[in-house]
Amino acid sequence: MQIGRFTRVGFILAAAGSAVGLGNVWKFPYMTGANGGGAFVMVYLLTILGVGVTLFLAEVAIGRIARKDAASAFKDLAPEGKKGWKWAGFVVITPVLIASFYTIVMGWLLKYIVASLSSLPTSVKQAGGMFGGMIENNPWEQVFYFTVAFTITFLIVSRGLIKGIEKANIILMPLLFVILFALMMYAMTLSGFGEAVKFLFVPDFSKITANSILAAMGQAFFTLSLGVGVIMTYASALPEHDNLFKSSVMVAGLDTLIALIAGVMIFSFTFHYGLKPSEGPGLIFVVLPSLFGDMGLLGNVISFLLFVALVFAGITSAISMIEPSISYMENYLKLTRLKALSIVGAVVYVLGMLALISNVKDLKSYVTFFDLGFFDILDKLTSMILMPVGGILVAIFVGFVMDKTKLHDLFVEFMGERFFNVWLFFVRYLVPLCVLIIMVNNFLA
Ligand code: TRP
Repeated sequence: MQIGRFTRVGFILAAAGSAVGLGNVWKFPYMTGANGGGAFVMVYLLTILGVGVTLFLAEVAIGRIARKDAASAFKDLAPEGKKGWKWAGFVVITPVLIASFYTIVMGWLLKYIVASLSSLPTSVKQAGGMFGGMIENNPWEQVFYFTVAFTITFLIVSRGLIKGIEKANIILMPLLFVILFALMMYAMTLSGFGEAVKFLFVPDFSKITANSILAAMGQAFFTLSLGVGVIMTYASALPEHDNLFKSSVMVAGLDTLIALIAGVMIFSFTFHYGLKPSEGPGLIFVVLPSLFGDMGLLGNVISFLLFVALVFAGITSAISMIEPSISYMENYLKLTRLKALSIVGAVVYVLGMLALISNVKDLKSYVTFFDLGFFDILDKLTSMILMPVGGILVAIFVGFVMDKTKLHDLFVEFMGERFFNVWLFFVRYLVPLCVLIIMVNNFLA
C-alpha cells in the first residue's frame, strides 16, 4: 500500500500535534508546581535536548528509512539473522491503550466546554463536587462525552494520514496556538504574571531533589510521544527532501514552547488569586474553574477558550495514537483501512468503557484489580512499563542493530560528522540509561 506524503509543515505540525497534548497544558504545569518550579523546568529542558531530541531522531530514522509501518520497519531494517526484531513492532499497541483512557479525559474536557457556557462553580468545594460528581456518580453523562470524543478521533483517522490527520493538524494546531497566546496576553494583565514568570524561569537550586530531577526527566520523555511508534509512523510519510534535523528540533521546540506558555498562563491565575502552585492534578478541573466562576462573564469566556484549547491539544494527540496500529494492520496484515479501524475502534471503545466504569462509585469494584482501577492500570501500564521499554528498544535498535551507514547517509548532511557521532553516542548509551533510570524510579516512587 502506498502511503501518502506529508508536506514539510504538515509533518512538523502533525508530530507537534502528537507531542503537544494534555501532558503539556495539564500535566506539565501541575508537575512543575509540585516540584518547585524553575529548577524542575531546567532539568526538563536539558532532558528534552539530550534524551528527547536524540530519541526523536532515532524514531525518525527508522520510519524515514523503512518508509513502512513500525513492525515492517523493524523487520526490514534488522540484518539477516536478527529478524526477531519485528516483534518490537508491538509498540503500536501501547498508544491504543493510551487512547482508551486519554479519550475519557477528552470527554471530561468537552463537558467543561459545555459547562463554561452556563454557570461555573464559584468555590473550590463546589468545583470539587462538580468534578467528583461527574466521574463518580454520572456514568451516562461520561459515556456520552467519551463517545463524542471517540467519534471525532476515529472520524479524522478514517479519512487517512494526509486528508484526515495532516489536515486536522494544519487547522487545529495554529488555532491552539492562537488561543493559548491570547490567554497568555490576558494573563499578562494579572498581578500574578511576574511571579509566575519568576517561578518558572528562575531556578531555585535548593529545590532540586533526586525526585524532582526524575520527575522532570519522566515528563520530558512522556511529552514527546516517544517509544510508541507514533513518530516512526509519521516519519514514514516524510517528504523526500527535508532537513530532518531541523524539523525534529522544531517539533521539540514547539512542544516546549506550548508547555511553557501554558505554565505561565496557569500560574499567573494561580498566583493572582493567592493560591499555591502545588495543587496537583486537580489544578485544571477544580481550582481554575472555581476561579473562573468567581470572575463572572469574562471567566466563562476564558474557561471556554482554555477547555477548547485543551480539547484541540487532545484531539491532535489522540489521532496520532490510533494511526500506528492502523498503518500496521493495513500494510503488514493487509487488512482494509475500514477493517483496521473497526478492530482498533472496538478495542478502544471497550477498554475505554471499562476504564470509565472503574471511576464510578457503584461499579468500580467490578473493574478493580490488585487495588487499582482499570483506568489507573492502563495509565500505569503504559507510562511506567510500555513507553519506556519501547524507548529503550528503539535506542538499542538504532544504536547497535541497524546498519550504521544508512544512519550516516540520512543524517550527516544535516548534522555534520562531529554531531552525528555525538548523537550516536547518546542513542547508544545516554538514552537507554536515562530511560531505564526513569522507569526504575517510576516503580519506586
Ligand atoms: N505527548 C502527549 C501529551 O503530552 C501524550 C502522549 C504520551 C502521547 N504518549 C503518547 C501522545 C503517544 C500520542 C502518542 O499529552
